[in-house]
Amino acid sequence: MHQDIEQVLYDQKALTEVTKSLGAQLTVDYAGKNPLVVCVLKGAILFMADLVRQIDTHVELDFMDVSSYGGATVSSGEVKIVKDLDTSVENRDVLIVEDIVDTGRTLNYIADLFKYRKAKSVKICTLLDKPETRVVPVHVDYSGFKVPNAFLVGYGLDYAEHYRNLPYIGILKSSVYQTK
Ligand code: PRP
Ligand code: MN
Ligand code: MG
Repeated sequence: MHQDIEQVLYDQKALTEVTKSLGAQLTVDYAGKNPLVVCVLKGAILFMADLVRQIDTHVELDFMDVSSYGGATVSSGEVKIVKDLDTSVENRDVLIVEDIVDTGRTLNYIADLFKYRKAKSVKICTLLDKPETRVVPVHVDYSGFKVPNAFLVGYGLDYAEHYRNLPYIGILKSSVYQTK
């Protein structure tokens, strides 16, 4: 285990199992629909890569990057598009893939945007859901694990861009972010 990790919450086996289970469900729900599966960069990249390999029906992939502003505008929850999709979502069944839903601002914005752009359907698949910290409502259609309000890193999730490549999800030691 990495020295900055307090505790491993989900190891590779647990992540593989939950991804298989979500993939099996998505295979049934999206059979014949040719969904556009959208990865929200960067956090969702590892989950996306594993999840789509478990979906046994035709899908298309696309990628989107957004950044949210904190600080003074935190309550307004402003979100800015850093990289937009290459594909039009009009009349498409869109599945948004995320690593974690925290305040809900990112997904609330993206889901609304795709509906405004006339997607046929917009659904959300998140590996982790942290309902305690929700600020704006998000309807999560597919969720891997409900997680406590702890600082989680690994398997795509970062702290200051570190730890994304850990093959498991763990709780970051508080000493790591308190000494910086
Ligand atoms: C993180 C995470 C989600 C979002 C969740 O992304 O990957 O996308 O925050 O938080 P929210 O529900 O409060 O919006 P971040 O903006 O840190 O970018 P990253 O994916 O590149 O790490
Ligand atoms: Mn993210
Ligand atoms: Mg981040």
